[in-house]
Formats: sequence, C-alpha cells, structure tokens
Amino acid sequence: MKFHLRASFRLSADASKAEAAISVFFSNAKNIVQKGAPEGHGAKIIEWKLTGNRIDLIIDSDRYVRAHDALLRLRRPLAELLGNNYKIGIRGLDINEFQIEVESHRDIGHKIPYVRNIRYEDGFLKLELDVGENGSLGQSEIEKRIPDRIVNLLEEKLQTYGGKSEHWELLWESSPKESNYNKDPTNEMIKRNWIKHGASRGQWIYGPQATQLFRTFEKIVLEEIIKPLSYLEMIFPKLDTWDVWKKSGHAKGVYPEIYFVCPPKTRDPAFWEEVMDYYKVTHEVPQELIKEKIDVPIGGMCYAQCPTFWGFIQGATLPNDDLPIKVFDRSGTSHRYESGGIHGIERVDEFHRIEIVWLGTREQTLEEAEKLKERYKYIFETILKLHWRIAWVTPWFMAQEGETGLAKMEGAGTVDYEALLPYNGNWIEFQNLSVNGEKYPKGFSVKTQLGEPLWSGCSGVGLERWASAFLAQNGLDPENWPEAFRKYFGNMPKGIRTL
Ligand code: SER
Ligand code: ZN
Repeated sequence: MKFHLRASFRLSADASKAEAAISVFFSNAKNIVQKGAPEGHGAKIIEWKLTGNRIDLIIDSDRYVRAHDALLRLRRPLAELLGNNYKIGIRGLDINEFQIEVESHRDIGHKIPYVRNIRYEDGFLKLELDVGENGSLGQSEIEKRIPDRIVNLLEEKLQTYGGKSEHWELLWESSPKESNYNKDPTNEMIKRNWIKHGASRGQWIYGPQATQLFRTFEKIVLEEIIKPLSYLEMIFPKLDTWDVWKKSGHAKGVYPEIYFVCPPKTRDPAFWEEVMDYYKVTHEVPQELIKEKIDVPIGGMCYAQCPTFWGFIQGATLPNDDLPIKVFDRSGTSHRYESGGIHGIERVDEFHRIEIVWLGTREQTLEEAEKLKERYKYIFETILKLHWRIAWVTPWFMAQEGETGLAKMEGAGTVDYEALLPYNGNWIEFQNLSVNGEKYPKGFSVKTQLGEPLWSGCSGVGLERWASAFLAQNGLDPENWPEAFRKYFGNMPKGIRTL
C-alpha cells in the first residue's frame, strides 16, 4: 500500500524570517512521521518549500504512518514553533494531490466517493482522489480519516471477492419425531382456505384457522418464555429511519432487501390534484407522476425489528440495579424484499415475528441467552415435537451488513434454529437467538452506571417459519398434533367458506 500526497499549510503571515527554523524542523521530522512504525517504515517528507505564507509539502508513505496522518501529526508541532517564536499561526490545510495504491489481484468496477479515477496496473489499484474543489477531499475529510475508510472499503471488497460464504456449524440435532407427514403445508393450507395470497408480493392473508395457529404460537411463547422469564411487552416503531439504521449498522448493506418509505413532497391537496384527476378519468394510478411528487426515502419498513427499540434508551445511562432489562415486541410486521419466484409461507416479503431483546452486563446477557435456549428446547421437544437442530452462524447483524465470518467479541454470535421440511428434505431457519455483544449499546450510546461494558441479545421468533416447520412435520389435522400443542390450540375455528 502506498500513499502519495501533495499538500500545503496555509499560514497567517509571510514566514520568510522563519525559514531556517522550518528547515531544521523538517530535517528532524522523521521522528514525527515515522514514530510507532516498524523500523524503516512510515511516512517520508519528500520535499518541502516555503513560499510566503504557504508551506508546500510532498509526503510519501506506506501503510504504517499514512501520508495524511503524517500531515496531521506535523500540524501541531509546526504551529507551536511558528506561534511561539514568530507569532505566525497555521490557518488550515489544502490538499493538492492525493494518490493511493493498493495491492490487488483484480480491477473493481465501482464508483467510490472522493475517488476521481481508478486504474488497475501491475498488480495495483491506483486511485486518484478528487481534490481542490468544494465537496472534494480537503482538510475536514482528512481529519475524518476518509482516506482510511476508502482503503478499508477496498480491502473488504477484495477480500470478499470469490464468494466467502456465511459461517454455518452444527451444534446439536434432535432425534427425528414419529410423524410421517410429507406434504407442502402452504398448498394444503390454500386447499383448506386457511390462507390466500395477498395483493402484494410475498404477502398472505391469514384466515381464522391460520391466525389461530399463529396466536397459539404466541400464547406458547408468552406462557413458556415471557412469563417465567419476566419479559415486559413494548411497542417498537415499524418504520426505520436512516438515522436508526446508521446506528444499527444496517446502513452499510441492507439496501437490496428493504421496502423504502417515501413521504409526499407536500400534503397540500392541490399539489396532488393532478394525480387524483388522472385516476378518476383513466382508472389507472399514474405511477410516474407520483414518483415526481414523493420525496426521497426517509428509511424503510421494519426489517430486523429490534433496532427501533434502542431509541428508547439512546444516549442514556442505565442503573445497575435495573439490569438485565428484558423486553419483547409483537406489534407489527417485518418486511423484506425477497428473491423472486414462487414461495410458500416459508419465504415471504411480509412476516410476523416476536422479537425478544435483553441487555445487561456480559455475564447477565450470556446467562439470559442460556435460559432462553433451555425454554426453546422445552417447547420444540415437548410441545411442538419437532425434528430440529441448531447451528452457530454468522451473526445476523453482520449478515445484514453484508459481512461474512464470525463476531470478534468472545461469546457474541448467533444461533440459528432449523427444522426439517420432510416434503422437500430442506432445513428451514425458523428462529434465531443472538448475543450481540456491545454492538447495539455502542451504536446507540447506552452505558451502565458503573461503566462496565453493556451487552445485549435478541431473538426473533418467526411465526410463518414456526408454522412452516410445525405443519410440514405434523400436518394440518389437529388429531395428529402433539397433545400439549392441541391443549394450547383449543378448537379449530370454522373459517370462511366461499361458493
Ligand atoms: N433482529 C434479529 C434478526 O433480524 C432477530 O429477529 O435476525
Ligand atoms: Zn434483533
């Protein structure tokens, strides 16, 4: 990795009288621009030149003390020298040229902010950064370490190229259960009028029978988990703004999968009259015209469910006595723009989930995760009687940011719960449970009173997925369902018949 930077310090006055002192300063500057780097590495000042009230510099470096860091390191000692002895101040920095070279085995065909031009040559990606104009790379971008972010982005892209896959490691598998049902539950539910396709992609209308099934799952979660473990119900917002997704990390990668939300440019009926009139005359909705009249998206519809919870305690300090905090939400749908094609209720764009969230010290968070796992095991073994398994996977928050691999925090990570679908032999992920480490408390600036690290966990119980797993293994007839489940379910409602 190489950096080549031409930059200037802007001074408050002509510094000709200080030239000799500046010369001594730069001949000793190695101590500053190579400090901390391995021997022979770091930045080098290739040239410096004083012209009136400007000092022009050329700095080259490797990855250790990067050229722009070297420039920032020089600023204060130089300002002290000029200020103390000559009453001259440093007014600012100008960036005149900035090139970065990164080792690579391939070209990349992307536009990157602040990069004017990328060439692939001799095993290097050669980047020419945009400098010298408003909105281009200047002092404030250097101070924000934008060049480092560009380098990180490139390294991330080059690393993941070649399809590094998500982590998956089997932890445990249950014994197979007795049932020999092997039909696709979606088709069977359609036949019995339990469900109908909704008007939107990957959306279903659940009739009374399917709804009672979902409510039974909820009842089981309430009775077997929420009550014994003392979770409190909350209502999390279901529209996630960019601000929330910046803090949760989703802003890094969630775009291809979200339903975007756009408000109208104005709620003045006159502004919309044209649209209304068009519809009244043609009976068509003028989508292109609407596109012109709606504002940019302010975010998207609920995707991961727990991020909006954090607004409740954002920026706060939590009393130690109140930890762990344990809450859950089941107040609305989640939405994902899934891959096309026909899917049953096991893959939907609009789904229902109970989201369980807990936070506390590291120990409390890990301990709570184990309690939840025990409760889940009890439910799947004795109430739903599933053939299921659990796997250690790439944490959901990393996957949703487009990352692979495993969490770096010891103890943090996601367990996926999977159930066998006998009709096609596939395993379906029907819920997950995660210890998210400090990710969320840090993202939303939440602290503990005593200053210990705050951890959190979350677990998503997908009702469509529970239904897919349960019905695929046990069928749709209550007489074939496990006794304990039947008790929870009660009588099958009659449903709505059509002629
Ligand atoms: N928030 C977690 C997820 O989206 C659990 O539901 O996977
Ligand atoms: Zn969550």
